[in-house]
Amino acid sequence: MTKFADIKGFVFDLDGVITDTSILHGTAWHQLADSLGVTWTKELGDGLKGISRMDSLEMILKAGHKENDYTQAQKEELAAQKNTNYVAEVDKMTPANILPGMKAFLDDLRAKGYQLSLASASKNAPRVLGKLGLTDYFPKIVDPASLKHGKPDPEIYTKGAELLNLDPAQCIGLEDAAAGVQAINGAGETSLGIGDATELGAADMVFADTSAVTLANIAKHLD
Ligand code: BG6
Ligand code: MG
Repeated sequence: MTKFADIKGFVFDLDGVITDTSILHGTAWHQLADSLGVTWTKELGDGLKGISRMDSLEMILKAGHKENDYTQAQKEELAAQKNTNYVAEVDKMTPANILPGMKAFLDDLRAKGYQLSLASASKNAPRVLGKLGLTDYFPKIVDPASLKHGKPDPEIYTKGAELLNLDPAQCIGLEDAAAGVQAINGAGETSLGIGDATELGAADMVFADTSAVTLANIAKHLD
């Protein structure tokens, strides 16, 4: 079992962990699903969290039994439409969109010398960090375009630890999505889930919301 003293680095998801963009992704996909005549459900929306743009589109089309109705070029056009709508919302964001407690947590991690990297599936992550005023906190970002497999595959979290020159066992990964928790566990890191304890049941520890994410609370769970 990993002890708190073993931990040297934190590998962060972005959407739904540092900021509330998971809601914006969901709204943009919901709009697209409506326009395609695919029925939107909470389960479909939750299942898309952490999933790459093209994989998300495939899941939506599949839910509506429409996976064979579009050419690759048309699918790329649909994904681009969603992204245009999403980016328009991102561009309205400010540092006020950082989730409660996360700025203080990041400052505490930096002050105590922990290393940080970002393991977000989003190609918009640098833009979002810029809007939040957090670019300087994350000089180390896994490029999602470099991945062979998206979450729940562990690859993105393995690379997140590699960027820090740490063993996965020395890292905590933070996630709001079941697919992300699975990826952290597969990489051999300690998983910290934020959200619903049932949905994130595979995580080593779950906090109901970001305001509870502090080093003291993490230490309590590990030791
Ligand atoms: C993840 C989100 O962080 O990034 C997903 O949880 C999203 O909802 C994925 O689909 C890809 O994001 P983007 O910005 O590259 O379309
Ligand atoms: Mg997320």
